[in-house]
Amino acid sequence: MKTKDGIQKALKVYCQARSFHFAAQYWALNRISQAVGFKTPIRYQDKELLKGIQKKLDELLDADLQRIQDGYYPTSVLRPNLSWDAILKFPRVVVDGFRVGRRRTQGSAKEFTPRAQNYFDGLPEYYLRNFHYQTDGYLGDESAEIYDYEVDLLFSGATDAMRRLIIAPLKNQFKNSPDGQGLKFLEIGPGTGRSTQFVKMAFPKAQIFGVDLSEPYLRVARSQLKSLQGLNFLQGDGANLPFKDAEFDAVYSIFLYHELPLEIRHSVIREGLRVLKTGGAFGYVDSIQKRDLPEFDFFLTEFPKNFHEPFYINYISNSMEKLLGSYPVRPLEQGIGLLSKFQMVAKN
Ligand SMILES: C[S@@+](CC[C@H](N)C(=O)[O-])C[C@H]1O[C@@H](n2cnc3c(N)ncnc32)[C@H](O)[C@@H]1O
Repeated sequence: MKTKDGIQKALKVYCQARSFHFAAQYWALNRISQAVGFKTPIRYQDKELLKGIQKKLDELLDADLQRIQDGYYPTSVLRPNLSWDAILKFPRVVVDGFRVGRRRTQGSAKEFTPRAQNYFDGLPEYYLRNFHYQTDGYLGDESAEIYDYEVDLLFSGATDAMRRLIIAPLKNQFKNSPDGQGLKFLEIGPGTGRSTQFVKMAFPKAQIFGVDLSEPYLRVARSQLKSLQGLNFLQGDGANLPFKDAEFDAVYSIFLYHELPLEIRHSVIREGLRVLKTGGAFGYVDSIQKRDLPEFDFFLTEFPKNFHEPFYINYISNSMEKLLGSYPVRPLEQGIGLLSKFQMVAKN
């Protein structure tokens, strides 16, 4: 018992240190940006608000560790990447930060190199922009390689714990196949496959398909997860899926819907439910919305000003629960972790 408590405490210290490391680097990145004369994201001075965020972050890390202890996923989800490649990510983010800072300052969000433009064919119009002012949007090789690190800078190293909010509801729904044997999942918008990796670690024998519009991001996903069996990453549109009806036991997305125009949110839900078996699980993790945590509504309205998220205001104003509730589904589980929420429903 004592040893178990000791391990839990050590893991908590590790997670807090990791979080501090990203928070400090984010602070440094913004100071550099400011020194160069770029517009930087607003610095929140309200001590009570910052304390509230810190408390939510702490609760998320605790809940994540508790789910490891409860056997929802293995401790190895926390394993750090200590390679040179990982260590060199921050300098690469700083270098790219000059390009991002210039675009943010100029409000320029439709800049693509000729290499990125090669991917344009067949992509929807809403997608052809520099989301977060990132270089080449989702169509750049460098962007794909530093994206996960950048998101961790933004969320003080808590992004993975938020992504993992999808796992417990999936586990609870598939208790008869705890290792995923015989299960077929679809992730819409896996990006570089971070969440796919965690779901795979929780269901090692499941077959998981990931469909994303971004070929460069999928290339990183395939390369990073090449040692795992049963993963298939396909370039395609979540609003027009290349699968037959009722093929999957579960369909889920992580941080996808806030980047979609409302009508595409509907199309992705409609398509996701089409390829899902009756009784199958449909879920997501995404940003909280207005009135989910009223004390943070201010953050939600500020966020898209700094990070080029053109559909975010519409997203936070259109409840995902109501949206999903307008389809033939019944609720299973929902909850909140830091600035994200998850919901899982079953298809009727
Ligand atoms: C904010 S990122 C999240 C990526 C990943 N799930 C994560 O947790 O980091 C949104 C992802 O959705 C993808 N995406 C946007 N619209 C899509 C669509 N219609 N179909 C499939 N993927 C889409 C983007 O290419 C990007 O990889």
